[in-house]
Amino acid sequence: MAYHASSQLPAYKTAADRDRGALIKVIALMLGIAVPVLLTIALWAAVSAQKARDDAQQASAPAPAATAPSPSTTHEHASAGTVATPSYAGLAPDNADALAAAHMPYPAALEAAPAGAVAVVHLTLKDVVHEVAPGIKYSAWAFSGGAPGPVIHVRQGQTVKMTLTNGGAIPHSIDFHAARIAPNVAFKDVAPGESFTFSFVAGDPGVFMYHCGTKPVLMHIANGMYGAIIVEPAKPLPRADREYVLVSSEWYLNSSGLKAPASFDMAKAHTMAPDWVTWNGYAGQYVKHPLTAKPGETVRFWVVAAGPSFDTDFHVVGTLLDRAWIDGDMTQHLNNVQTATVPAGGGGVFDVKINEPGLYPFVSHSFASVDMGQVGLLKVGQVAGTMSH
Ligand code: CU
Ligand code: CU
Repeated sequence: MAYHASSQLPAYKTAADRDRGALIKVIALMLGIAVPVLLTIALWAAVSAQKARDDAQQASAPAPAATAPSPSTTHEHASAGTVATPSYAGLAPDNADALAAAHMPYPAALEAAPAGAVAVVHLTLKDVVHEVAPGIKYSAWAFSGGAPGPVIHVRQGQTVKMTLTNGGAIPHSIDFHAARIAPNVAFKDVAPGESFTFSFVAGDPGVFMYHCGTKPVLMHIANGMYGAIIVEPAKPLPRADREYVLVSSEWYLNSSGLKAPASFDMAKAHTMAPDWVTWNGYAGQYVKHPLTAKPGETVRFWVVAAGPSFDTDFHVVGTLLDRAWIDGDMTQHLNNVQTATVPAGGGGVFDVKINEPGLYPFVSHSFASVDMGQVGLLKVGQVAGTMSH
C-alpha cells in the first residue's frame, strides 16, 4: 500500500467565494435540468439497444447457478450508471479480476487477546491511499495504515492503555464505544504530530466500534477512521473453532478513483448514496479470498457496522445464525436467527455451524449493499474450483 501525505483541510469561504458559489449553483441548476433530459434520450436509445442484445443473450444462455455472487457479479454493473448518474458504483478496470486475486485481504481471523492486567494499544494515524475495490483508489485517513484499523482484542476487566499518535495533516481523535469515560477528556482532538494517552477499564464484554470523533464525524468515519475492539467476556462464550471479525462500512467517492485517488463526497454522504459498501474496507475481498471452515465447525463472526450511516443486516446464505448475541449483551443470545440487524455504530456476535460443504455468502441482506460490494464467502470444506486459501 502506498502512503502519502494528503491535506484534506476544508477551505474557509470568503463572501466572493459565496457569490461565485451562488452563480455556479444557478448555472448548475440550469444544466441540471438540461443535461438529464438530453442524457435520458441518449440513454434510452442506448439502453434499448443493450436490452435487446441482453434479451437475445439471456434467451440462449443457461440459467445462472444459485451459488455465490462473485466479484464479477458486482463489476458487471460497471458500465451502467456512470453516465446518467454521479454514481461510481461497480466501476472496474479491465484487469479487476487479477487485481482482486493479487489483493492481500484484511486479516479477518481473530487473534488471541494479550494476557496481563493492562493491554497496551498504540495507533498511529496516517493519511493513506486505500483501495476500496480492485483498482479503485481513495484518499483515506486511517488508523495505523488501514481501513478498518487494527482489530483490538482485550479481556473483560483489563485496563486498555491507549495512545493515539496523529501522523495526519489535521486534528483527529479516537472514541471507543467499549469505554465508559468522559468523552471531552478522553476523546479529545489530537493535533498533527502529537500523541495522547488515556486509559479505560474494558468492563463491558462484546464487540464494539472505535472511530475518530472529530467533526465532521460523518467525514472522518467515511474517510476510513474506524475499527473493532473486542472485549472477551470473563465468563467464556461457548467454544468456537474459528473466529472472524467483519467491519462493514460505506464509501462516498467524488470521482471514480480509477486514475487518481477519489476523495470524500459530502453530498453523497448526506443522502446516504455510497458508491461502495465493504466488509473490512475492500469490496468483495472474501469472495476472491474466502474465509474458511471445516464441515461441522462452529464459526463465530464478530461484526461491527462502522457506517458512517448504513446498518448491516447480517445474514449467511444457506444457513441460520445458530446463536446471535445482540450488541453488547453477552449474557444471553437468540437462537436460529435468519438475519440480525447490526446498527451503524453497533456490534453483534454470530455463530454458525455448517455441516454441508459449500460456499456460503455472508452479506448485509439490504441488497443494495451487496451490489455495491458487501459480500464475502465462507468456504466450508473443500469446494472444487475455488482457491485453496
Ligand atoms: Cu479524524
Ligand atoms: Cu461513536
